[in-house]
Amino acid sequence: MNKEIKKICCIGAGYVGGPTMAVIADKCHDIIINVVDLNESRIADWNNDDLSKLPVFEPGLKEIIKRRRGINLFFSTQIEKNIASADMIFISVNTPIKQSGVGAGKASDLKWIESSARQISKFAKGFTIVVEKSTLPVKTANTIKKILEVSNFHNESTDEGNNKHFEVLSNPEFLSEGNAINDLENPDRVLIGGEDEDSINALKRIYLNWIDESQIISTNLWSSELSKLTANAFLAQRISSINSISALCEKTGADVKEVALAVGMDSRIGNKFLNVGPGFGGSCFKKDLLNLIYICDYYGLKSVSSYWQKVIDINNWQRNRISRIVVEKLFGTLSGKSIGILGFAFKANTNDTRESPAIEICKDLIEEGVKLQIYDPKVSFENIEIDLNNDKIKNSSDSLGGWCYVNSIEDAANNADALIVLTEWMEFKTLDWMRISKLMRSPSWFFDTRLITDTEQASKYGINIWKIGKDF
Ligand code: NAD
Ligand code: UGA
Repeated sequence: MNKEIKKICCIGAGYVGGPTMAVIADKCHDIIINVVDLNESRIADWNNDDLSKLPVFEPGLKEIIKRRRGINLFFSTQIEKNIASADMIFISVNTPIKQSGVGAGKASDLKWIESSARQISKFAKGFTIVVEKSTLPVKTANTIKKILEVSNFHNESTDEGNNKHFEVLSNPEFLSEGNAINDLENPDRVLIGGEDEDSINALKRIYLNWIDESQIISTNLWSSELSKLTANAFLAQRISSINSISALCEKTGADVKEVALAVGMDSRIGNKFLNVGPGFGGSCFKKDLLNLIYICDYYGLKSVSSYWQKVIDINNWQRNRISRIVVEKLFGTLSGKSIGILGFAFKANTNDTRESPAIEICKDLIEEGVKLQIYDPKVSFENIEIDLNNDKIKNSSDSLGGWCYVNSIEDAANNADALIVLTEWMEFKTLDWMRISKLMRSPSWFFDTRLITDTEQASKYGINIWKIGKDF
């Protein structure tokens, strides 16, 4: 049966659900798309007339929302109604790491996936294609199928139950935050895993509206689910590789940027994802690695799991060593000192701070007694407050430091003993060194953990420079 998709429902209006559905709506004007979420305030933000208040900041997103919202793109909390009328349902809910119980700290918490599947099984009508958009452990489609089948069984005596039929596809998302719209419009590939040819083709036809057929690959369900975890693990591994080499560069006089350039020009290695930094952050790399490790352990593959565990270990080590270097350079004590933090988001061009290396680095420094002046062009005070105000800091004695939110680079530099670049925002590229040197306390230090800033002029104004992966 060649199912025509006229209505899509997406469960989950987050960083993936919102932008992904916006792009589909923009490319397929004849499909009505309802993005639903339990979180009322998130939906209210998606519906805000003031487009600067959208819950997700992504370059190019607000222009699409302006074009399509209220025409063929809708955001709502009416989950039941929108599931019932959908031909295809994307599950795009969060899949964080389990906090307790079996697999705590490693396995994905699938409770939101399960609750979505239960909602679908209850409210869907007729033949519905269910698409896994969230990143899931391999074999999750089995769980979803079982929940959908059980519901059919229970409803067997009713007409509604008899009419229900589901096919499950895996269609992982590879977008990266800050570049989401471009990634969705020009993906390297679209991956569809499934068992039912017609359902695969129904989803494929949607993508064919803007993506070349050669870039759409279909596989079995398990390859598709596992490819997503593997892709993230490989990307994270590259970052840990270059970060590990950055420490060796600092000891030997090699320059990590030059090493990355030389290594990356080998076409077998490639030049992407070799940027040194304070460690990878974001909601997914660590979570997906932990999940991969958990699955390997589950299948008794201890050597494989410990191989991937090292990628996380190096990431933690890189983050920790940055705070240690800062303390060391500032004469071994931060008590009574101020440091300006430039950038709190886990990467540039996003307001997302999930797993940002800035969180742990700032906490470490605060524990050393420093007062931080934190500036980020997109991250709000409220967000930083949630990330930093853990019990330890809240209950801190006077010997522990604290933090305040500032609105500019200059405010971050004001009376500071050091400035640390933690996110590679473009505005940190060129700094007014004369002005900054006048604002800072002497001796002043500038730490660049992203190698973004042009520091050539800085020493002229007496500022000491430390750059990651360079011997100073
Ligand atoms: P998110 O937390 O931003 O959004 C998930 C949303 O789902 C939340 O708003 C939550 O309220 C909603 N939700 C949960 N259960 C629900 C239910 N039963 N009914 C209705 N709404 C429900 O998460 P995200 O960053 O968009 O990630 C979603 C998934 O996509 C994850 O599996 C993640 O690993 C994967 N992923 C994320 C990215 C990324 O860049 N953030 C990229 C690729 C894949
Ligand atoms: C990553 C992947 O790139 C996406 O393909 C994937 O869809 C997504 O995870 C996901 O599954 O959630 P994202 O986390 O949004 O995307 O951002 P990245 O650009 O991958 O950056 C992740 C972290 O690695 C950031 O902290 C970034 O600063 C760091 N990074 C990235 C480096 O330190 N060096 C690099 O060369 C690249």
